[in-house]
Amino acid sequence: MEPFVIHNPVKLHFGPGVAGKTGSHARQLGNKALLMLGRGSALKNGAYGQVTASLKESGVDWVEYRGIKSNPTLEGVDGAAALGREHGANLVIALGGGSVVDSAKMAAITIPVDHSAWEFMDGSQKPGRALPLLAVVTLAATGSEMNHYAVIQNDVLKMKKGYGHPLLFPRHSYLDPLLTVSVPPDYTAFGIADLVAHCLEAWFGEGEASLSDRLTLSIIREALEYGPQLMAHPEDAGLRARIMYAATCALNGMTVPGRKSADWGVHAIGHCLSAFWDIPHGASLTVAYPAWLELQEERIPGRIAALGKELFGLDGAGETTRALRDFFQAIGCPVSLHELHIHPTKKEKEELFGVMRRNKVDGLAHRLAQDDYRRLIDRMC
Ligand code: NZQ
Ligand code: ZN
Repeated sequence: MEPFVIHNPVKLHFGPGVAGKTGSHARQLGNKALLMLGRGSALKNGAYGQVTASLKESGVDWVEYRGIKSNPTLEGVDGAAALGREHGANLVIALGGGSVVDSAKMAAITIPVDHSAWEFMDGSQKPGRALPLLAVVTLAATGSEMNHYAVIQNDVLKMKKGYGHPLLFPRHSYLDPLLTVSVPPDYTAFGIADLVAHCLEAWFGEGEASLSDRLTLSIIREALEYGPQLMAHPEDAGLRARIMYAATCALNGMTVPGRKSADWGVHAIGHCLSAFWDIPHGASLTVAYPAWLELQEERIPGRIAALGKELFGLDGAGETTRALRDFFQAIGCPVSLHELHIHPTKKEKEELFGVMRRNKVDGLAHRLAQDDYRRLIDRMC
Protein backbone atom coordinates (compact mmCIF):
# COMPACT_ATOMS: atom_id res chain seq x y z
CA MET A 1 0.00 0.00 0.00
CA GLU A 2 1.08 3.54 -0.76
CA PRO A 3 1.06 6.14 2.02
CA PHE A 4 -1.96 8.46 1.95
CA VAL A 5 -3.82 11.34 3.60
CA ILE A 6 -7.59 11.42 3.83
CA HIS A 7 -9.25 14.82 4.18
CA ASN A 8 -12.85 15.42 3.19
CA PRO A 9 -14.44 18.41 4.91
CA VAL A 10 -17.83 18.30 3.11
CA LYS A 11 -20.88 18.12 5.35
CA LEU A 12 -23.28 15.97 3.34
CA HIS A 13 -27.03 16.09 4.03
CA PHE A 14 -28.95 13.19 2.50
CA GLY A 15 -32.70 12.62 2.42
CA PRO A 16 -36.07 14.10 1.54
CA GLY A 17 -36.38 17.83 2.09
CA VAL A 18 -32.72 18.55 2.93
CA ALA A 19 -32.65 21.53 0.53
CA GLY A 20 -34.81 23.29 3.10
CA LYS A 21 -31.76 23.54 5.36
CA THR A 22 -29.86 25.79 2.94
CA GLY A 23 -31.15 29.05 4.40
CA SER A 24 -29.99 28.49 7.96
CA HIS A 25 -26.56 27.24 6.80
CA ALA A 26 -26.21 30.13 4.36
CA ARG A 27 -27.04 32.59 7.14
CA GLN A 28 -24.01 31.37 9.12
CA LEU A 29 -21.70 31.91 6.14
CA GLY A 30 -22.85 35.17 4.52
CA ASN A 31 -25.77 37.43 3.71
CA LYS A 32 -25.61 37.72 -0.08
CA ALA A 33 -25.57 34.57 -2.19
CA LEU A 34 -24.78 34.04 -5.82
CA LEU A 35 -27.35 31.39 -6.75
CA MET A 36 -26.28 29.42 -9.83
CA LEU A 37 -28.66 27.38 -11.96
CA GLY A 38 -28.71 25.40 -15.18
CA ARG A 39 -31.22 25.80 -17.96
CA GLY A 40 -34.51 25.40 -16.14
CA SER A 41 -34.79 21.94 -14.54
CA ALA A 42 -34.37 23.33 -11.00
CA LEU A 43 -37.42 25.51 -11.51
CA LYS A 44 -39.51 22.47 -12.45
CA ASN A 45 -38.29 19.85 -9.99
CA GLY A 46 -38.96 21.90 -6.87
CA ALA A 47 -35.35 22.56 -5.90
CA TYR A 48 -35.47 26.26 -6.69
CA GLY A 49 -38.70 26.76 -4.72
CA GLN A 50 -37.34 24.93 -1.67
CA VAL A 51 -34.03 26.79 -1.64
CA THR A 52 -35.39 30.28 -2.24
CA ALA A 53 -38.12 29.79 0.42
CA SER A 54 -35.43 28.71 2.85
CA LEU A 55 -33.19 31.67 2.00
CA LYS A 56 -36.11 34.09 2.43
CA GLU A 57 -37.01 32.58 5.77
CA SER A 58 -33.44 33.04 6.96
CA GLY A 59 -33.11 36.57 5.62
CA VAL A 60 -30.42 35.75 3.07
CA ASP A 61 -30.50 37.88 -0.07
CA TRP A 62 -29.39 36.44 -3.41
CA VAL A 63 -28.62 37.24 -7.02
CA GLU A 64 -29.21 34.60 -9.73
CA TYR A 65 -27.05 33.41 -12.58
CA ARG A 66 -29.12 31.14 -14.82
CA GLY A 67 -28.13 29.20 -17.91
CA ILE A 68 -25.08 27.09 -17.00
CA LYS A 69 -24.99 24.49 -19.76
CA SER A 70 -24.25 20.81 -19.53
CA ASN A 71 -20.51 20.41 -20.25
CA PRO A 72 -20.12 23.82 -18.64
CA THR A 73 -18.09 26.51 -20.33
CA LEU A 74 -15.57 29.03 -19.11
CA GLU A 75 -17.93 31.72 -20.36
CA GLY A 76 -20.57 30.61 -17.85
CA VAL A 77 -18.09 30.53 -14.98
CA ASP A 78 -16.59 33.94 -15.74
CA GLY A 79 -20.06 35.42 -16.35
CA ALA A 80 -21.35 34.11 -13.02
CA ALA A 81 -18.23 35.31 -11.21
CA ALA A 82 -18.61 38.80 -12.69
CA LEU A 83 -22.23 38.94 -11.56
CA GLY A 84 -21.31 37.77 -8.05
CA ARG A 85 -18.50 40.34 -7.85
CA GLU A 86 -20.76 43.12 -9.06
CA HIS A 87 -23.38 42.34 -6.43
CA GLY A 88 -20.95 41.78 -3.56
CA ALA A 89 -21.80 38.11 -3.11
CA ASN A 90 -20.13 36.52 -0.11
CA LEU A 91 -21.27 32.95 -0.68
CA VAL A 92 -22.21 30.74 -3.63
CA ILE A 93 -25.11 28.27 -3.91
CA ALA A 94 -25.21 25.72 -6.74
CA LEU A 95 -28.54 24.25 -7.74
CA GLY A 96 -28.35 21.50 -10.36
CA GLY A 97 -26.18 18.70 -11.68
CA GLY A 98 -22.40 18.41 -11.82
CA SER A 99 -22.15 21.13 -14.45
CA VAL A 100 -23.66 23.73 -12.16
CA VAL A 101 -21.74 22.51 -9.12
CA ASP A 102 -18.41 22.57 -10.99
CA SER A 103 -19.11 26.05 -12.37
CA ALA A 104 -20.03 27.25 -8.88
CA LYS A 105 -16.79 25.83 -7.47
CA MET A 106 -14.78 27.81 -10.00
CA ALA A 107 -16.90 30.95 -9.50
CA ALA A 108 -16.27 30.71 -5.75
CA ILE A 109 -12.52 31.11 -6.26
CA THR A 110 -12.86 33.57 -9.15
CA ILE A 111 -15.16 36.15 -7.50
CA PRO A 112 -12.38 37.36 -5.14
CA VAL A 113 -9.93 37.98 -8.03
CA ASP A 114 -9.92 40.08 -11.18
CA HIS A 115 -8.99 37.49 -13.80
CA SER A 116 -10.60 34.61 -15.65
CA ALA A 117 -11.11 31.23 -13.98
CA TRP A 118 -9.00 29.73 -16.77
CA GLU A 119 -5.86 31.22 -15.20
CA PHE A 120 -6.41 28.86 -12.28
CA MET A 121 -7.08 25.96 -14.59
CA ASP A 122 -3.98 26.49 -16.71
CA GLY A 123 -1.83 26.86 -13.61
CA SER A 124 -0.79 30.47 -14.19
CA GLN A 125 -2.55 31.61 -10.97
CA LYS A 126 -3.12 29.93 -7.61
CA PRO A 127 -6.35 30.57 -5.71
CA GLY A 128 -5.88 32.33 -2.36
CA ARG A 129 -9.40 31.97 -1.00
CA ALA A 130 -12.86 30.76 -1.95
CA LEU A 131 -16.30 32.01 -1.06
CA PRO A 132 -18.15 29.32 0.91
CA LEU A 133 -20.12 27.01 -1.37
CA LEU A 134 -23.39 25.16 -0.76
CA ALA A 135 -24.32 22.54 -3.39
CA VAL A 136 -27.87 21.29 -3.91
CA VAL A 137 -27.47 18.35 -6.25
CA THR A 138 -30.35 17.32 -8.50
CA LEU A 139 -28.67 14.61 -10.60
CA ALA A 140 -26.79 11.52 -9.42
CA ALA A 141 -23.58 11.17 -11.41
CA THR A 142 -20.38 13.07 -10.87
CA GLY A 143 -19.73 13.02 -7.13
CA SER A 144 -18.79 16.69 -7.40
CA GLU A 145 -20.84 17.28 -4.24
CA MET A 146 -18.18 15.60 -2.13
CA ASN A 147 -14.92 16.26 -3.90
CA HIS A 148 -12.57 19.10 -4.78
CA TYR A 149 -12.62 18.82 -8.58
CA ALA A 150 -14.24 20.90 -11.29
CA VAL A 151 -14.30 20.16 -15.01
CA ILE A 152 -14.74 23.11 -17.38
CA GLN A 153 -14.76 23.43 -21.15
CA ASN A 154 -12.89 26.16 -22.99
CA ASP A 155 -14.65 26.42 -26.35
CA VAL A 156 -12.05 28.77 -27.81
CA LEU A 157 -9.15 26.41 -27.11
CA LYS A 158 -11.33 23.27 -27.65
CA MET A 159 -10.19 21.98 -24.30
CA LYS A 160 -12.08 20.31 -21.49
CA LYS A 161 -10.03 20.25 -18.37
CA GLY A 162 -10.25 18.98 -14.83
CA TYR A 163 -8.95 21.09 -11.98
CA GLY A 164 -8.47 20.05 -8.38
CA HIS A 165 -7.81 22.24 -5.34
CA PRO A 166 -8.73 21.87 -1.65
CA LEU A 167 -10.56 25.22 -1.80
CA LEU A 168 -13.11 23.62 -4.14
CA PHE A 169 -14.77 21.39 -1.53
CA PRO A 170 -18.35 22.55 -0.89
CA ARG A 171 -19.03 23.42 2.78
CA HIS A 172 -22.41 21.68 2.68
CA SER A 173 -23.97 19.45 0.03
CA TYR A 174 -27.65 18.54 -0.06
CA LEU A 175 -28.77 15.31 -1.70
CA ASP A 176 -32.50 14.75 -1.90
CA PRO A 177 -33.23 11.71 -4.08
CA LEU A 178 -36.76 13.04 -4.69
CA LEU A 179 -35.27 15.94 -6.63
CA THR A 180 -33.72 13.45 -9.04
CA VAL A 181 -36.96 11.67 -9.96
CA SER A 182 -37.47 14.11 -12.86
CA VAL A 183 -34.06 13.36 -14.45
CA PRO A 184 -34.89 12.01 -17.94
CA PRO A 185 -33.93 8.42 -18.90
CA ASP A 186 -30.85 9.41 -20.91
CA TYR A 187 -29.20 11.44 -18.15
CA THR A 188 -30.27 8.88 -15.54
CA ALA A 189 -28.36 6.24 -17.52
CA PHE A 190 -25.38 8.56 -18.13
CA GLY A 191 -25.19 9.16 -14.38
CA ILE A 192 -25.14 5.43 -13.64
CA ALA A 193 -22.43 4.97 -16.28
CA ASP A 194 -20.41 7.86 -14.87
CA LEU A 195 -20.37 6.41 -11.38
CA VAL A 196 -19.30 3.02 -12.75
CA ALA A 197 -16.60 4.76 -14.79
CA HIS A 198 -15.25 6.52 -11.70
CA CYS A 199 -14.89 3.12 -10.06
CA LEU A 200 -13.20 1.69 -13.16
CA GLU A 201 -10.71 4.57 -13.16
CA ALA A 202 -9.87 3.61 -9.57
CA TRP A 203 -9.71 -0.12 -10.33
CA PHE A 204 -7.27 0.51 -13.17
CA GLY A 205 -5.16 2.87 -11.07
CA GLU A 206 -1.65 2.18 -9.96
CA GLY A 207 -0.74 0.29 -6.83
CA GLU A 208 -2.09 -2.59 -4.80
CA ALA A 209 -4.87 -1.63 -2.37
CA SER A 210 -7.11 -4.55 -1.44
CA LEU A 211 -9.65 -2.70 0.70
CA SER A 212 -9.97 0.13 -1.83
CA ASP A 213 -10.52 -2.58 -4.46
CA ARG A 214 -13.31 -4.13 -2.41
CA LEU A 215 -14.98 -0.78 -1.80
CA THR A 216 -14.71 0.00 -5.51
CA LEU A 217 -16.30 -3.35 -6.44
CA SER A 218 -19.12 -2.81 -3.93
CA ILE A 219 -20.02 0.52 -5.51
CA ILE A 220 -20.01 -1.01 -9.00
CA ARG A 221 -22.19 -3.90 -7.76
CA GLU A 222 -24.69 -1.37 -6.40
CA ALA A 223 -24.90 0.16 -9.90
CA LEU A 224 -25.08 -3.22 -11.68
CA GLU A 225 -27.94 -4.33 -9.45
CA TYR A 226 -29.98 -1.14 -8.99
CA GLY A 227 -29.11 0.73 -12.20
CA PRO A 228 -31.25 -1.48 -14.49
CA GLN A 229 -34.03 -1.53 -11.88
CA LEU A 230 -34.02 2.26 -11.80
CA MET A 231 -34.15 2.45 -15.59
CA ALA A 232 -37.28 0.27 -15.43
CA HIS A 233 -38.80 2.25 -12.52
CA PRO A 234 -37.51 5.81 -12.81
CA GLU A 235 -40.13 7.11 -10.37
CA ASP A 236 -38.89 4.86 -7.55
CA ALA A 237 -37.40 7.17 -4.91
CA GLY A 238 -35.75 4.27 -3.08
CA LEU A 239 -33.80 3.27 -6.19
CA ARG A 240 -32.96 6.93 -6.87
CA ALA A 241 -31.55 7.11 -3.34
CA ARG A 242 -29.34 4.03 -3.77
CA ILE A 243 -27.90 5.32 -7.03
CA MET A 244 -27.43 8.81 -5.63
CA TYR A 245 -25.39 7.63 -2.66
CA ALA A 246 -23.39 5.26 -4.89
CA ALA A 247 -22.52 8.17 -7.19
CA THR A 248 -21.27 10.22 -4.26
CA CYS A 249 -19.13 7.35 -2.93
CA ALA A 250 -17.67 6.64 -6.37
CA LEU A 251 -15.72 9.91 -6.39
CA ASN A 252 -15.35 11.19 -2.84
CA GLY A 253 -11.88 9.79 -2.34
CA MET A 254 -12.72 6.46 -0.70
CA THR A 255 -11.78 4.27 -3.67
CA VAL A 256 -8.21 5.49 -3.96
CA PRO A 257 -6.38 5.23 -0.58
CA GLY A 258 -3.45 2.85 -0.85
CA ARG A 259 -3.10 3.33 -4.59
CA LYS A 260 -0.59 5.71 -6.09
CA SER A 261 -3.40 7.16 -8.19
CA ALA A 262 -6.47 6.28 -10.22
CA ASP A 263 -5.92 6.12 -13.99
CA TRP A 264 -8.20 8.79 -15.57
CA GLY A 265 -7.19 7.92 -19.14
CA VAL A 266 -10.76 7.17 -20.23
CA HIS A 267 -12.04 10.41 -18.71
CA ALA A 268 -9.37 12.26 -20.67
CA ILE A 269 -10.60 10.63 -23.89
CA GLY A 270 -14.24 11.32 -23.00
CA HIS A 271 -13.50 14.98 -22.31
CA CYS A 272 -12.14 15.31 -25.85
CA LEU A 273 -15.33 13.80 -27.30
CA SER A 274 -17.34 16.31 -25.25
CA ALA A 275 -15.11 19.22 -26.26
CA PHE A 276 -15.38 18.23 -29.94
CA TRP A 277 -19.04 17.17 -30.28
CA ASP A 278 -20.57 18.36 -26.98
CA ILE A 279 -21.40 14.77 -26.09
CA PRO A 280 -22.86 14.36 -22.55
CA HIS A 281 -20.15 13.27 -20.12
CA GLY A 282 -21.57 9.83 -19.25
CA ALA A 283 -22.17 9.00 -22.90
CA SER A 284 -18.61 9.97 -23.79
CA LEU A 285 -17.39 7.43 -21.25
CA THR A 286 -19.57 4.55 -22.47
CA VAL A 287 -18.19 5.16 -25.97
CA ALA A 288 -14.60 5.41 -24.75
CA TYR A 289 -14.48 2.59 -22.18
CA PRO A 290 -15.02 -0.40 -24.49
CA ALA A 291 -12.41 1.00 -26.91
CA TRP A 292 -9.91 1.57 -24.10
CA LEU A 293 -10.52 -1.90 -22.63
CA GLU A 294 -9.97 -3.52 -26.04
CA LEU A 295 -6.72 -1.59 -26.38
CA GLN A 296 -5.61 -2.72 -22.93
CA GLU A 297 -6.65 -6.35 -23.29
CA GLU A 298 -3.18 -7.35 -24.44
CA ARG A 299 -1.39 -5.07 -21.97
CA ILE A 300 -3.20 -5.75 -18.69
CA PRO A 301 -5.27 -8.89 -19.34
CA GLY A 302 -4.97 -10.05 -15.74
CA ARG A 303 -6.38 -6.90 -14.20
CA ILE A 304 -9.28 -6.74 -16.67
CA ALA A 305 -10.06 -10.42 -16.18
CA ALA A 306 -9.95 -10.04 -12.38
CA LEU A 307 -12.63 -7.38 -12.66
CA GLY A 308 -14.80 -9.65 -14.81
CA LYS A 309 -14.36 -12.54 -12.37
CA GLU A 310 -15.44 -10.38 -9.42
CA LEU A 311 -18.37 -8.67 -11.10
CA PHE A 312 -19.73 -11.23 -13.51
CA GLY A 313 -18.07 -14.55 -12.62
CA LEU A 314 -16.36 -14.52 -16.03
CA ASP A 315 -12.98 -15.76 -17.20
CA GLY A 316 -10.97 -13.60 -19.53
CA ALA A 317 -10.37 -9.99 -20.45
CA GLY A 318 -12.37 -10.06 -23.70
CA GLU A 319 -15.45 -11.43 -21.92
CA THR A 320 -15.14 -8.68 -19.31
CA THR A 321 -15.03 -5.96 -21.95
CA ARG A 322 -18.12 -7.44 -23.60
CA ALA A 323 -19.99 -7.69 -20.28
CA LEU A 324 -19.34 -4.05 -19.43
CA ARG A 325 -20.33 -2.97 -22.93
CA ASP A 326 -23.53 -5.02 -22.61
CA PHE A 327 -24.29 -3.37 -19.28
CA PHE A 328 -23.87 0.13 -20.70
CA GLN A 329 -26.10 -0.81 -23.62
CA ALA A 330 -28.70 -2.44 -21.40
CA ILE A 331 -29.24 0.78 -19.47
CA GLY A 332 -29.52 2.70 -22.76
CA CYS A 333 -26.08 4.25 -23.18
CA PRO A 334 -24.30 4.48 -26.55
CA VAL A 335 -21.17 2.36 -26.95
CA SER A 336 -19.99 3.88 -30.22
CA LEU A 337 -20.04 7.29 -31.91
CA HIS A 338 -22.22 5.69 -34.55
CA GLU A 339 -24.94 5.15 -31.94
CA LEU A 340 -24.82 8.88 -31.24
CA HIS A 341 -25.40 9.46 -34.98
CA ILE A 342 -21.86 10.72 -35.34
CA HIS A 343 -20.03 9.35 -38.39
CA PRO A 344 -16.64 11.08 -38.36
CA THR A 345 -15.06 11.86 -41.71
CA LYS A 346 -11.32 11.38 -42.19
CA LYS A 347 -10.89 15.11 -41.60
CA GLU A 348 -12.90 15.02 -38.37
CA LYS A 349 -10.90 12.04 -37.13
CA GLU A 350 -7.74 14.05 -37.74
CA GLU A 351 -9.22 17.03 -35.89
CA LEU A 352 -10.20 14.83 -32.97
CA PHE A 353 -6.65 13.47 -32.94
CA GLY A 354 -5.48 17.10 -32.68
CA VAL A 355 -7.86 17.77 -29.79
CA MET A 356 -6.53 14.68 -27.99
CA ARG A 357 -2.98 15.91 -28.50
CA ARG A 358 -3.80 19.41 -27.29
CA ASN A 359 -5.54 17.97 -24.22
CA LYS A 360 -2.53 15.69 -23.62
CA VAL A 361 -4.74 12.63 -23.28
CA ASP A 362 -3.01 10.08 -21.08
CA GLY A 363 -3.58 7.72 -18.18
CA LEU A 364 -1.70 8.11 -14.92
CA ALA A 365 -1.23 4.35 -14.61
CA HIS A 366 -1.57 3.15 -18.22
CA ARG A 367 0.17 5.55 -20.55
CA LEU A 368 -1.33 6.34 -23.94
CA ALA A 369 0.90 7.07 -26.91
CA GLN A 370 -0.20 9.02 -29.97
CA ASP A 371 -0.46 5.76 -31.94
CA ASP A 372 -3.00 4.66 -29.36
CA TYR A 373 -5.08 7.78 -30.04
CA ARG A 374 -5.63 6.64 -33.64
CA ARG A 375 -6.51 3.11 -32.60
CA LEU A 376 -8.94 4.44 -30.00
CA ILE A 377 -10.59 6.80 -32.49
CA ASP A 378 -11.12 3.95 -34.96
CA ARG A 379 -12.51 1.66 -32.28
CA MET A 380 -14.89 4.33 -30.98
CA CYS A 381 -16.50 4.86 -34.39
O1 NZQ B 1 -29.58 22.66 -17.30
P1 NZQ B 1 -30.71 22.05 -16.56
O2 NZQ B 1 -32.03 22.58 -16.97
O3 NZQ B 1 -30.52 22.10 -15.07
O4 NZQ B 1 -30.79 20.50 -16.98
C1 NZQ B 1 -29.83 19.52 -16.66
C2 NZQ B 1 -28.95 19.17 -17.87
O5 NZQ B 1 -29.66 19.34 -19.06
C3 NZQ B 1 -30.52 18.23 -16.40
N1 NZQ B 1 -30.96 18.04 -14.99
C4 NZQ B 1 -30.24 18.17 -13.87
N2 NZQ B 1 -30.99 17.84 -12.79
C5 NZQ B 1 -32.22 17.51 -13.27
C6 NZQ B 1 -32.20 17.64 -14.67
N3 NZQ B 1 -33.28 17.41 -15.45
C7 NZQ B 1 -34.42 17.02 -14.82
N4 NZQ B 1 -34.49 16.85 -13.47
C8 NZQ B 1 -33.43 17.09 -12.68
N5 NZQ B 1 -33.52 16.90 -11.35
O6 NZQ B 1 -29.58 17.22 -16.71
C9 NZQ B 1 -28.72 17.68 -17.73
C10 NZQ B 1 -27.29 17.32 -17.39
O7 NZQ B 1 -26.85 18.04 -16.26
P2 NZQ B 1 -25.29 18.08 -15.92
O8 NZQ B 1 -25.12 18.90 -14.69
O9 NZQ B 1 -24.51 18.47 -17.12
O10 NZQ B 1 -24.97 16.53 -15.65
P3 NZQ B 1 -23.92 15.84 -14.71
O11 NZQ B 1 -24.33 15.90 -13.30
O12 NZQ B 1 -23.69 14.51 -15.31
O13 NZQ B 1 -22.59 16.73 -14.86
C11 NZQ B 1 -21.73 16.56 -15.94
C12 NZQ B 1 -20.51 17.45 -15.83
O14 NZQ B 1 -19.71 17.12 -14.68
C13 NZQ B 1 -18.36 16.86 -15.10
C14 NZQ B 1 -18.54 16.36 -16.50
O15 NZQ B 1 -17.35 16.41 -17.24
C15 NZQ B 1 -19.60 17.27 -17.05
O16 NZQ B 1 -19.05 18.50 -17.45
N6 NZQ B 1 -17.69 15.98 -14.15
C16 NZQ B 1 -17.37 16.46 -12.95
C17 NZQ B 1 -16.65 15.73 -12.03
C18 NZQ B 1 -16.30 16.27 -10.72
N7 NZQ B 1 -16.51 17.54 -10.47
O17 NZQ B 1 -15.80 15.55 -9.87
C19 NZQ B 1 -16.17 14.38 -12.34
C20 NZQ B 1 -16.86 13.75 -13.48
O18 NZQ B 1 -16.04 12.73 -13.98
C21 NZQ B 1 -17.20 14.69 -14.59
O19 NZQ B 1 -16.09 14.91 -15.42
ZN1 ZN C 1 -16.95 11.16 -14.78
